[in-house]
Amino acid sequence: MEIQNQEKILVIDFGGQYNQLVARRVRENNVYCEIYSYRTPLEKIREMQPKGIILTGGPASCYEEGAASCDPELFRMGVPVLGLCYGAQLMQWVLGGKVERAANREYGRTEIQLDTADSPLLKGVPSRTVVWMSHFDFISRMAPGFTVAAHSLNCPVAVCEDRASKLYGIQFHPEVLHTEEGFKILGNFVHDICGCSGSWRMDAFVAQTVEQIREKVGDGRVLLGLSGGVDSSVAAVLLSKAIGEQLTCVFVDHGLLRKNEADEVDAVFGPSGPYRLNYVHVDAKQHFYDKLAGVSEPEAKRHIIGEEFIRVFEAEAKKIGAVEFLAQGTIYPDVVESGLGGESAVIKSHHNVGGLPEHVDFKEIIEPLRALFKDEVRKVGLELGIPEKLVFRQPFPGPGLGIRIIGEVTEEKVKMVQDADAIFREEVAAAGLDRELNQYFAALTNMRSVGVMGDERTYDYAVCLRAVKTIDFMTAESAEIPWPVLQKVTSRIINEVRHVNRVMYDITSKPPGTIELE
Ligand code: XMP
Repeated sequence: MEIQNQEKILVIDFGGQYNQLVARRVRENNVYCEIYSYRTPLEKIREMQPKGIILTGGPASCYEEGAASCDPELFRMGVPVLGLCYGAQLMQWVLGGKVERAANREYGRTEIQLDTADSPLLKGVPSRTVVWMSHFDFISRMAPGFTVAAHSLNCPVAVCEDRASKLYGIQFHPEVLHTEEGFKILGNFVHDICGCSGSWRMDAFVAQTVEQIREKVGDGRVLLGLSGGVDSSVAAVLLSKAIGEQLTCVFVDHGLLRKNEADEVDAVFGPSGPYRLNYVHVDAKQHFYDKLAGVSEPEAKRHIIGEEFIRVFEAEAKKIGAVEFLAQGTIYPDVVESGLGGESAVIKSHHNVGGLPEHVDFKEIIEPLRALFKDEVRKVGLELGIPEKLVFRQPFPGPGLGIRIIGEVTEEKVKMVQDADAIFREEVAAAGLDRELNQYFAALTNMRSVGVMGDERTYDYAVCLRAVKTIDFMTAESAEIPWPVLQKVTSRIINEVRHVNRVMYDITSKPPGTIELE
């Protein structure tokens, strides 16, 4: 769904690792922004009538042959431009400054000192402040018209500005939380320099999107695949607010859900829940167990689960009859990671993002949350009155426990991992740790080992506990769960879950590990 009539900042992506963060920080300042590749033609940028442009960091050196670049006209459109790291160097290079390789890489926390007291970009920033640097190259000579607004010990130009032309460059990363005043600096740029009013709010988003959905759907019918996860749940309530009875939500229980999860989804979205949706619960457990029998390779399991999910979903759609629209809870990072936003490599092709496959009967796809980041989706959820418990749920992968059981999936193993996971979740919540862990779960290893229980020899499975802290799920640290909590979970799992005689805690970070075990 397109965002209309909204002041907009464009984030031009040069391939740096923090680029989605830049966009999120702008949005947190209540200013709407979108990410585009640096390859986007100038004409298209002009047509979008941005209030300001931010050039992101990137891995290249701007003076190298073939490095990512931009049209010099970008700086002459009269639109304020802020360059970050590579973006700052590129701005200087293109406008006639000089960028060179430094003798030493400057990386990590660094103190900068302001050289001027009245820079609009640095309004409210103390004269000395800590920032996050990460660069090999540095600006050794500024382009005509620019002056230095801040420097660090190793970096003569940490911030530069040409106030008259509204062009600003920052060598460090204001989007990273380690930069103490980063949020303020980006706020100064979008509010004071670009003149954005800060009207991007989720209540306005809800009102506008409801109108757009009504207009698009008319009196047609919409089908939504509801998993009970945050994104599809918020999409369901939003669509229901817009078109009520014309929406049907299909929840497929593939038998790989967490303990009691199907009941919980039924309770919220089923006939006795508060939303009065057309809700179809499909029990496809046995179908999935049959299809997965004898399969142990992770990608093969993923493939089977994904494929069967669509088949079951389509069969349900046929039963319902003529449905013109398929809705999904796609969010902005899905769009960017599918290679449709900025410069991100295709990390995983999210199902159907960007268009429908050929074999389905639907006329069009509706993605009401397509422009939003996860934290914004949560705000919309709260705005719509969805219970906090559901809105702040940790992510759960589509293939579910299928990829948390190493090796072959059987019904018996599903029960083991469900019970172990429920105990882990209960104890994490009891210890008050659930809001500070971003994802945590139990997985079942394919390893059996010898133990002794009540004087008897056992030869049973090992459960692996995993808990991570992460911002974007691209990298993650294993969380330091207090030892007594782990001990209690371990003893409960071994006592309460049959055929488990060992519990391990995974302390691998990502990379080199991944969050899930498969
Ligand atoms: P990894 O394991 O790649 O996980 O570090 C990163 C995030 O993605 C989730 N994940 C998946 N989600 N289908 C999904 O819908 C998948 O196949 C899948 N694999 C991983 C994972 O739970 C974590 O949040």
